[in-house]
Amino acid sequence: MSQLGIILAGGRGTRLYPATLALSKQLLPVYDKPMVYYPLTTLMESGLRDLLVITTPQHQPQFQALLGSGEQWGVQLQYAAQPEPGGIAQALLLAAPFLQGRGCTLILGDNIFHGPALGQRLRAARHTAGATIFTYPVSDPQRYGVVAFGPDGRAAALLEKPPVPPSNQAVTGLYVYDGQAPALAAQLVPSARGELEITDLNAAYLRRGSLNLQRLGRGYAWLDAGTHDSLLEASAFVQTLERRQTLKIGSPEEAAYRQDWIGRGEVQRLIRQLGQGSSYAQHLQTLLDTPPELLEEEP
Ligand code: DAU
Repeated sequence: MSQLGIILAGGRGTRLYPATLALSKQLLPVYDKPMVYYPLTTLMESGLRDLLVITTPQHQPQFQALLGSGEQWGVQLQYAAQPEPGGIAQALLLAAPFLQGRGCTLILGDNIFHGPALGQRLRAARHTAGATIFTYPVSDPQRYGVVAFGPDGRAAALLEKPPVPPSNQAVTGLYVYDGQAPALAAQLVPSARGELEITDLNAAYLRRGSLNLQRLGRGYAWLDAGTHDSLLEASAFVQTLERRQTLKIGSPEEAAYRQDWIGRGEVQRLIRQLGQGSSYAQHLQTLLDTPPELLEEEP
C-alpha cells in the first residue's frame, strides 16, 4: 500500500502578525505562488499521490478553494483540521484515521526544499525501516531541533531549540515514518510549551535504534518562511533561481506533468484557468513547449 503524504499547515503564525491575523501563513505568497505549493510539490516529486492537508478549522475552506480535490494535478487531497496548535507530532494522531497502519512522509507547510534528487532520497527513505529525518547545517541551530552526535559520529540525542547547540545540524521539517508513528506519538507527553514535540517522537525512534539520519549537504537549500525576514529571503531566493534558470520551484503542475500524472490537455486547461496575465501561467506554457527529452531530470 502506498504511503500517505502529510502537509502540516496549521498554527497561528504569530511570528508573522499582523500579516497572518486574517490569513493563513501557508497561503501567503513566496515570490510567485502560495507557500503551501512548495511542500506540496516536494511530496509530489517523491511520487506521493495520496495526500492529507492539516490546517486550522477556520482556514480549511481557503485551502480547499486553492487546492481542491487534487484531481487537476492527478493526486488525491484530503483535509483534516487541527483545532489548536498542539504540536507537530499531533499531526500523526490526526492522520491516524487516514493512515490505517501505513507509513507516511510529513512535511511542514512553511518548509521549502530545493536540491538534487530529493524525491529519490525520499523514495529510498520510505523503503527504510523506522523513521528518517533530514538534517541541514545552519548558523543558528538554537532555533531548531538539533542533533547531538556521539564519539562514533552517530546520532546520540535530539534536542529541541537547545540554548547551547551540540552541533550545527538542524533537523528540517521533513520526516518519513513507518506505520508505528501514531502509536508512538500517542505515548508522548506535552512539553513545557504545551506541545507534542516532533523532536520527542524522533527521539523515541532513536531510542528504539530505528532512526535514520540523512544529511542535506552542499547543493541543497532549506528555507523556512516563518518570520518576516525569512519569508522575504525565501521570496528573493525563489525569484533569483527562477529568473536565472527559467525553472520553477514548487510547481505542482510541473511535478504532475513530469511524472505523467497529467497530460498536455490538462496543463493547457490549467493555463486557461490562470489566464495569460501571470508569469506563472507563461512558465507552464514554456514547459509545454519544451520537448520532453530536454526537460531536466528531477530538480
Ligand atoms: O522548521 C523546522 C523546525 O520546525 C524543527 O527544527 C523543529 O524541531 C520543530 O519543532 C519545528 O520548529 P518550530 O518551533 O520552528 O515550529 P513551529 O511551531 O514554527 O511550527 C512549524 C510549522 O508547523 C508552522 O508552519 C506551523 C505548523 N504547526 C505547528 C504546530 C506547533 C502546525 O500546523 N500545528 C502545530 O501545532
